[in-house]
Amino acid sequence: PLTAKVNSHDCLEIGGCDLSTLVNQFGSPLYILDEYTLRTACKQYREAFIKYYPGQSQVIYASKAWSCMAVCAVIASEGLGFDVVSGGELYTTLQTLEQMGLGDDIATKIYFHGNNKSVTELQFALSVGCTIMVDNWLELETLVKLGANLGEKSVRIMLRLTPGIECHTHEYIRTGHLDNKFGFDPHQLEAVLTYVSEHSIFNCIGIHAHIGSQIFETQPHHDLAGVLVGYLKSAIAKGLPIQELNVGGGLGIRYTEKDDPPAIEEWVKNVATAIVKACEAEQIPLPKLIAEPGRSLIGSACITAYTVGSRKEIPELRTYIAVDGGMSDNPRPITYQSLYRAIIANRMSTPQSETVTIAGKHCESGDILIKDALLPKAEPGDILVVMGTGAYNYSMASNYNRLPRPAAVLVHQGEANLILKRETYEDLLRQDRLPDRLVNLKE
Ligand code: LLP
Repeated sequence: PLTAKVNSHDCLEIGGCDLSTLVNQFGSPLYILDEYTLRTACKQYREAFIKYYPGQSQVIYASKAWSCMAVCAVIASEGLGFDVVSGGELYTTLQTLEQMGLGDDIATKIYFHGNNKSVTELQFALSVGCTIMVDNWLELETLVKLGANLGEKSVRIMLRLTPGIECHTHEYIRTGHLDNKFGFDPHQLEAVLTYVSEHSIFNCIGIHAHIGSQIFETQPHHDLAGVLVGYLKSAIAKGLPIQELNVGGGLGIRYTEKDDPPAIEEWVKNVATAIVKACEAEQIPLPKLIAEPGRSLIGSACITAYTVGSRKEIPELRTYIAVDGGMSDNPRPITYQSLYRAIIANRMSTPQSETVTIAGKHCESGDILIKDALLPKAEPGDILVVMGTGAYNYSMASNYNRLPRPAAVLVHQGEANLILKRETYEDLLRQDRLPDRLVNLKE
């Protein structure tokens, strides 16, 4: 986080809050989210669009990266909109905006994604009036049925298309190539545009594509701009009232020293100038340009604090140190072989002296947070901090092995606010039910 520094107790401080104090007060493991870093990333996106894109623009937050009320609230207060991908994310966002007193212009701020939205979810989206990012034929047909009584142009949609663009990132998080589950295949573009223009309930305001996540290259988004403007031209030719173009998200962040992603400003400049050029070449007016980043907004704003526990030394092979969380609070290493960086936060000036493997406490060998981390000799009770855990950590967390999910605090100028309570054992049983015939078996 941008506000990280070492204080006079030789301890890491984030947002003006001492890590040892936070862990004493809120327990361990603990997600610590730095408000200033999150707000700074929001501003960088906003200001870069204003600087490099002469048309209208809107940044929307891909809430799948971390959806909870406090995160939504900070993002909303920065003027960003929301990409939601389920009824649950929609509900979280709506509840937050309502409590903030911002419930009025929701419709223009929330975009509902998903490759298999349920009828209930679609009805929810229609009742709210948010824009539905239509992904496939079944969804178009379902919306025609659901919208039958709603009147002309009552269903505001955008069309998601597969752009057919490759990028170098983990295969699980690539979405631009033709062989993937998201969006209409481009060879169906004409048919989709015809269908939409023939059903008067649709108010089709835009086109969308997303090519993947944790991307460092700029070429794929540059190419995407050209492809999207091509789609836009076809849609305009069909007479659709298209005004918006959404280029998705995908900018990567630095997890380790080896990572060298472009800056937010550079990413925006690349996309914006490519769109402007392509529109000029095709002689079409500039659309409202939308980007929907997740990771690059929140990823670097959070760290996870763990407490060091047991140690296993295997001579000449490896030393394991175990922490009190693991794959349940950060499933990214075991899922995508993702790399992270760690430090011992309560003894910042102790020199690094050993290479260890940081293991979680779950019942499987793959539960490793970091292989071969260079650290000072860690003692039980030390606070080990993993950096860059804001994106796809809490949002992908589980209760594997019935571990209660950690708490999260929002830190800012020396103040720490609890934003997610630590789960309790009672929480773990909240949804459990025992069939009557298994109760009171004594006698
Ligand atoms: N828009 C759409 C339609 C998306 O599917 C995604 C991410 C985003 C925007 C935001 O992408 P970002 O700016 O965060 O890269 N769980 C994986 C990442 C999955 C990304 C899914 N879609 C991970 O932990 O790496």
